[in-house]
Amino acid sequence: MPLDLILLGPPGAGKGTQAKILSQRLGIPHVASGDLFREHLRQRTALGQLARQYMERGELVPDAVTIQMIRGRLEQEDCRQGVILDGFPRTPAQAKALDELLTGMGRSLTAVFYIQIRDEFLIRRLAGRWTCQVCGAVYHVEFNPPRVPGRCDLDEGPLYQREDDTEEIQRRRIQVYHEQTAPLVWFYRERGLLVEIEGERSVPEVTEAMIRAIQLQRAADP
Ligand code: AP5
Repeated sequence: MPLDLILLGPPGAGKGTQAKILSQRLGIPHVASGDLFREHLRQRTALGQLARQYMERGELVPDAVTIQMIRGRLEQEDCRQGVILDGFPRTPAQAKALDELLTGMGRSLTAVFYIQIRDEFLIRRLAGRWTCQVCGAVYHVEFNPPRVPGRCDLDEGPLYQREDDTEEIQRRRIQVYHEQTAPLVWFYRERGLLVEIEGERSVPEVTEAMIRAIQLQRAADP
């Protein structure tokens, strides 16, 4: 059975950081709706132009286009053995669409990791984030600095700060998370899929908690 995982949590919780590590450890792709939108922005597609209007305000891109984009990605060959979803779903409508999509593929969610972290930690994490322009690796000036300032440890690519990482937009993204995405915690808890992860621990500790939960799940449902 494919391993279909969701990483749920506020901006800065560590979804992207953990998804990249899990993707390598588990051998399944990391599908991040934010990264897909940023790729469209870079390539100046019509979807990218539309998404920009929302992303630069910290608002959510409309459900219909987001769902269509994710559907196209999940139908690709490399997602057949499973996927780690980061940043999707973000609304109840997206969660329902994902259920239908997976059901149509004869699949169902394995688990939803809810990364819990207090709001006061988020801005400090987002303000110090630097991302590799080449491979997308994520660093933090204080918590996870690159060996050479401004250069990626993996490929020496230049590091950049995201356009939506100004403090004003960060605060709006966190507010939008509480208003529109946090209800998904209840949605997945009711379905028995939610695994709560303490997100204020170190990156390796958070990873190990997730790996342990997957092993337990597999042992219970081989
Ligand atoms: P998106 O790209 O998804 O951003 P986000 O949800 O705001 O989340 P972030 O990527 O900011 O945080 P993260 O949890 O991945 O944290 P990270 O691992 O980088 O969305 C951007 C925009 O796209 C949205 O605002 C919206 O407009 C649009 N969009 C995307 N998806 C959409 C959807 N489904 N529907 C509609 N619109 C959508 O970590 C942050 C920092 O903390 C890093 O520096 C990292 O090094 C550090 N760090 C991580 N873990 C730890 C740790 N354990 N200890 C110490 N530091 C840590």
